Amino acid sequence: MRVPYVNLGLQHEKDRAELLEKVGELLDSGMFILGQEVYQFEETFAKIAGTKYAVGVANGTDSLMLSMQALGICVGDEVITVSHSYLASASSVALIGANPVLIDVDDNFNMDASKLEDAITAKTKAIIVVHLTGRPADMDSIMSIANKHNIPVIEDAAQAVGATYKGKPVGGFGVFGSFSLHPLKNLAAAGDAGVITTDSEKHYNWLLKARNHGLKSRDELEFFSINSRLDALQAAILNIKVRRLDEWNERRREIADRYINELSSVVRVPAYSMDFSPVFHAFVIQTDKRDELASYLAEHEIDSKVHYPIAIHQQEGASRSIMHDLTNTEYIVKTILSIPVYPELTDSQVDFIIKTIKTFFNDK
Ligand SMILES: Cc1ncc(COP(=O)(O)O)c(C=O)c1O
Repeated sequence: MRVPYVNLGLQHEKDRAELLEKVGELLDSGMFILGQEVYQFEETFAKIAGTKYAVGVANGTDSLMLSMQALGICVGDEVITVSHSYLASASSVALIGANPVLIDVDDNFNMDASKLEDAITAKTKAIIVVHLTGRPADMDSIMSIANKHNIPVIEDAAQAVGATYKGKPVGGFGVFGSFSLHPLKNLAAAGDAGVITTDSEKHYNWLLKARNHGLKSRDELEFFSINSRLDALQAAILNIKVRRLDEWNERRREIADRYINELSSVVRVPAYSMDFSPVFHAFVIQTDKRDELASYLAEHEIDSKVHYPIAIHQQEGASRSIMHDLTNTEYIVKTILSIPVYPELTDSQVDFIIKTIKTFFNDK
């Protein structure tokens, strides 16, 4: 039985006719930039994050950069984030001329709040908290330290759309929530897309201009900015797909529950409770036999991946970063393995994955 790591085509099966009809409608209308589909999606998305506003942008990296620019962060400033994340959590900081300050993660792969205060300096202008793998970070501790030092928090919730922390959706804790809607994410466009959430009317109004060259009207420029608009075509597709987000996240949790129950005797599995209600963008197991297990799974036609095999501070291109102790990050990258967890996995594929992993360890 072949089990691919993802199967993006399958997620459109049930809505295929409606999606194709909508694309046809848009092609006929010629409404490609912003417009009703984008505004409708923004309204829906703000409800998902529990915020007053949402602004559609071109991708999740722009959403991080624009959030920092809205806070006036620029050359020489410091932004604290983690080294165990997708590179954009840090590259977005460097791209606006600031310095990423990289701190360690805890055993749940998220920012270790106990390491945060030591990294704060007079130059710290924001904290980017990543909800990696769809699991909310320790927001109580992080927000209390951030509030004590009066430092704004940006949530990099690219992998966590729909996740909740103590009943409250991620994306609504910080000044900004930053989401990617890249094809591999839990809510995925048919290409690149992103969205920023906020409760601040001032920031919302600034972002509407900032994503559109800094224009305050068709012909009047308020400030120079990039073009980072969400395409109407992507918004239209997202407006249809978003209806299935809860169903998809629920199925991810169902599969994760089986992995947790059936694999915890042989590998370390993610801890989870209703306080940290994750959406399992990835299901990451941990074992000292990671490479052997990955090869064994490949021999049995089960795809797995490592998210991420090289921490950001270990990347050649991350030379501007300021690094703190990253011992746990360096251990984690050598022991983690992501196994398939998408909604379209069949029960028999899940059975096969569990059986194959157990056989690997029992034969050792
Ligand atoms: C944690 C995290 N942050 C930021 C991004 C960047 O998003 P995008 O690829 O849409 O620019 C991603 C996407 O891969 C991500 O996983």
